[in-house]
Amino acid sequence: YLISAAGFCLLLVFQITHYKQYPPNVSKIYSYFECRRKKGSQFSEVVFFGLQYLLKKYLTGPVITEEKIQEAKLFYQMHFKQAVFDEEGWRKVLEKHDGRLPIRIKAVPEGRIIPRGNVLFTVENTDPSFYWLTNYIETMLVQMWYPITVATISREFKKILAKHLKATSGSLEGLDLKLHDFGYRGVSSQESAALGGAAHLVNFCSTDTVAGLLMAQRYYGCPMAGFSIPAAEHSTIISWGRSKEKEAFERVLDQFSSGPVSVVSDSYDIFNACKHIWGDKLKERVMERSQDSCLVIRPDSGDPAETLIEILEECFGSSLNSVGYKVLPSYLRIIQGDGIDLHSVEEILEKLSDEGWSAENVFFGCGSALLQKLNRDTLSCAFKCSYVESNGKGMDVYKQPVTDPSKGSKKGRLSLRRNSDGFLETVERGAGKPEEDLLVTVFENGSLVKDYSLEEIRKNARLRDEEMNPTLHNHEPELLHNHIINGIH
Ligand SMILES: *[C@@H]1O[C@H](CO)[C@@H](O)[C@H](O)[C@H]1NC(C)=O
Ligand SMILES: *[C@@H]1O[C@H](CO)[C@@H](O)[C@H](O)[C@H]1NC(C)=O
Repeated sequence: YLISAAGFCLLLVFQITHYKQYPPNVSKIYSYFECRRKKGSQFSEVVFFGLQYLLKKYLTGPVITEEKIQEAKLFYQMHFKQAVFDEEGWRKVLEKHDGRLPIRIKAVPEGRIIPRGNVLFTVENTDPSFYWLTNYIETMLVQMWYPITVATISREFKKILAKHLKATSGSLEGLDLKLHDFGYRGVSSQESAALGGAAHLVNFCSTDTVAGLLMAQRYYGCPMAGFSIPAAEHSTIISWGRSKEKEAFERVLDQFSSGPVSVVSDSYDIFNACKHIWGDKLKERVMERSQDSCLVIRPDSGDPAETLIEILEECFGSSLNSVGYKVLPSYLRIIQGDGIDLHSVEEILEKLSDEGWSAENVFFGCGSALLQKLNRDTLSCAFKCSYVESNGKGMDVYKQPVTDPSKGSKKGRLSLRRNSDGFLETVERGAGKPEEDLLVTVFENGSLVKDYSLEEIRKNARLRDEEMNPTLHNHEPELLHNHIINGIH
């Protein structure tokens, strides 16, 4: 209900009583969003993603109507038990701007990788009468933390996978499919699934979170952003009864005789299933399959990838790839989808390569560590006012709490530029040159003025060479990205 009634929702969700609190004669409020830098965080840079969805879904077009104003008025009368809702202000939006928001949003292009501590987008009113709108929409805009954080974590997975795949196979073939999104059931809602699922698709093409595919289609112009394969689950195996696991497996092979298929094999005893069922009773059936219709065995408990691969090697053999690492026959792979996070992926891949195994042998599935075990503090996302105008004069403003200097905010009008050393930096106090500014106007007066395709976004988010190359990976991001310029006012 809230989601479909976009305009009403807009009236509801936000900072309802602030318009009464600003100083007199204010005509502009200018605010910005950043992922603040944080000492010791494992994330030094972020992937900007998701604003376009919010804008298209909630903010474009005539979002205010008289009916919604009346509804909201009633709602807030009940909520605050006093008349704090700015009925007149909203009616002016309706009358003067046909219900379209006189707001300008400038943002980093979606998919761009930005070191933490830099401006990601700015918001300001374009009509002096509506200075109160800027921070009215803060609540909605700060929810950007979620797609940004998922896209960022997903890309960190990609760095780890790329590094190991390159080192142990000599190429990056299949990288896009290495991390499968298993998170649909583990997120809080359909909208989270859609946003998180789409954010993962900025980096990978492998997902079961269908809501993310639909979002990529509807809001980012991508007909089909990700792929999946038929897969057994525990119910389809255990419904045969404990004594018939072999029959259950056989059934799956029969039903999906061509194309890859994944079979969960830990219902009772993964080691028995691999050694005696797959590796013996069904061995011929497995060997008949080709690379294109490979069997992907899924352990789903414990950490058996390393143990399992040895059992499978005993039964099916292995060969050496061009860089000297072992690979199982091409009709056989493993997908590890239990307990996967950035730490365990690295650990598993390291153990495998220590034992001489290539990363080619395994896929990973990740659920909650990808879509749910994160919050607004993961990347310290914040929205702050940095500039105001009143009585025709501009003033740079900021917060600088004595109790926590890391929560200080930026000053004045902001822009983002690449400096002469090639690093991105935020220029404060209106000192940036417009021609250098990497922030792009994406929304103005109720219209979306820039529409990114997922394809463009994926290009922007591609791994840089040094991120894929294990030997070049030990740079010190803290030193590289510590440039904030204080312009002269
Ligand atoms: C607000 O603007 C009015 C009209 O220009 C002016 O008379 C008044 O002094 C201003 N108030 C403040 C507090 O600046
Ligand atoms: C947006 O509206 C403001 C006034 O409300 C106007 O000055 C500005 O030119 C408009 N922008 C565009 C792109 O039409």
